[in-house]
Amino acid sequence: MSHEVVEKNVFLMAVLILIVISIGALVEIIPLYFLKSTTEPVDGLKPYTALQLEGRDIYIREGCNNCHSQMIRPFRAETERYGHYSVAGEFVYNHPFLWGSKRTGPDLARVGGRYSDDWHRAHLIRPRDVVPESNMPGYPWLDTNKLDGKYTAKKLSVMKMLGVPYTDQDIAEASEAVKGRTEMDALLAYLQVLGTVIPHNR
Ligand code: HEC
Repeated sequence: MSHEVVEKNVFLMAVLILIVISIGALVEIIPLYFLKSTTEPVDGLKPYTALQLEGRDIYIREGCNNCHSQMIRPFRAETERYGHYSVAGEFVYNHPFLWGSKRTGPDLARVGGRYSDDWHRAHLIRPRDVVPESNMPGYPWLDTNKLDGKYTAKKLSVMKMLGVPYTDQDIAEASEAVKGRTEMDALLAYLQVLGTVIPHNR
């Protein structure tokens, strides 16, 4: 009988549906607040250096993340190709995350140390010089554009505000650390640290 009441009253039904859905959502969300493994950095994780952080911004500016994910899923086909699957604690200093799911090119979550700086430089200037079948665009300007460090200290302070443990000294020295370096230097510094906190061989 009471079921009939619900079925004949759209408003009541909507409210009850909302309650049921909220319970489902809360069951998923509430445990996350108590799960330390998703919010604590993995052992040995260091905040990006000033140069690496600038490199990450160039990575975002150039849209590298439109073709490259940074998230190795826990499947055999992935771990055999890319190394240890990604864990949440590797990313706690990343604002924003660049996990992505679009893989026009390979995943880069553990590309750090996989190639030499020279390889990356040649590849980023003209990808087809080193990978003939590549359809990745070239980024020759990175090798000539210089960083002026104007906003580097500000960028570190914003990261600090978001919970990245930079010291006042890190922030004070940030601009000097990048001034005069090329955008390529910064991007390479970033690429070479990606995923290296977890030892892996591939
Ligand atoms: C239009 C899509 C596209 C964009 C944008 C792009 N890439 Fe790629 N990338 C590829 C493809 C496809 C490959 C595989 C062929 C090759 O190695 O060149 C690749 C390969 C790579 C590799 C070698 C990975 C490996 O494990 O062999 C690196 C490193 C890389 N890209 C970095 C970058 C960076 C840094 C940027 C931004 C400056 C970028 N890519 C932008 C498509 C893209």
